Amino acid sequence: MKLLFKNYIDLLSIFIKLKQGYTLLLVAIIIMPLQGCNSQTKAPVAIETNEVYTYKRNDPNGIGKWYQGREIAHVMGFQGMDWLNRPEREQEENVSILLKNMNIQTSDVIADIGAGSGYHVFKIAPMVKEGTIFAVDIQEEMLAEMDYQKEIAGINNVNLVKGSEQSANLPENSIDKVLMVDVYHEFNYPLEMMLSIKKALKPNGKIFLIEYRGEDPNVPIKTIHKMTEAQSVKELKAVGFKFVENRDNLPWQHCMVFVLE
Ligand SMILES: C[S@@+](CC[C@H](N)C(=O)[O-])C[C@H]1O[C@@H](n2cnc3c(N)ncnc32)[C@H](O)[C@@H]1O
Repeated sequence: MKLLFKNYIDLLSIFIKLKQGYTLLLVAIIIMPLQGCNSQTKAPVAIETNEVYTYKRNDPNGIGKWYQGREIAHVMGFQGMDWLNRPEREQEENVSILLKNMNIQTSDVIADIGAGSGYHVFKIAPMVKEGTIFAVDIQEEMLAEMDYQKEIAGINNVNLVKGSEQSANLPENSIDKVLMVDVYHEFNYPLEMMLSIKKALKPNGKIFLIEYRGEDPNVPIKTIHKMTEAQSVKELKAVGFKFVENRDNLPWQHCMVFVLE
């Protein structure tokens, strides 16, 4: 009986040891991947503290992230699509003049970065019959809307591209003209985006940067969604673009032209 009892105690202690070991193993399995995750989430923070970007809460429509002394605005959600397609837009922004400013050739390869619902894309497509227009956006809903329009109109020279916050995802050395309407001020990573656009541009390519005039209090747009010419030139110069001119012929917006330095 005593022997039997001792064997039982031994068995019990083996079981407890096994259980402790198993628990340790379980803890190790759970903690190890978490540590892996931690090191992954730490990496971007390290990149972001290199002083290209600084952080300070200010405007409720801003993201609290600053670049070259300017707070970056929130990205306009796809829910604002109707505003982009508003009928009075032609009168407010004179898109026809904007397209004339671009001196579009039929063989041009154009990239509309932050194309939204395709307001400019589908006006440009018939103008580049032998060329292409890349319509880049980061929101699936915007790309889906453009895909739908492309289908119903039977258009085949519009290439839809899913961009990322840091890259336009365009082929290198392929673009004659880049159009950016009301988007640059909401790039979360303006430096990285402009470097990716620089790579995609042909050596004699041009950038048409269209932003609501920050200098003009009569333009009825929130301050953080506007840009001054001075600030735009400063930011594009910092990534190696040369300011050519501001066409200054649109009702509410700057039409600034840049080339590679
Ligand atoms: C205010 S809307 C303007 C849309 C269009 N350009 C127009 O004027 O009708 C800005 C668009 O830029 C897109 N966007 C924001 N950041 C972007 C980025 N890094 N790359 C590509 N698109 C971006 C948004 O998803 C949104 O559709």
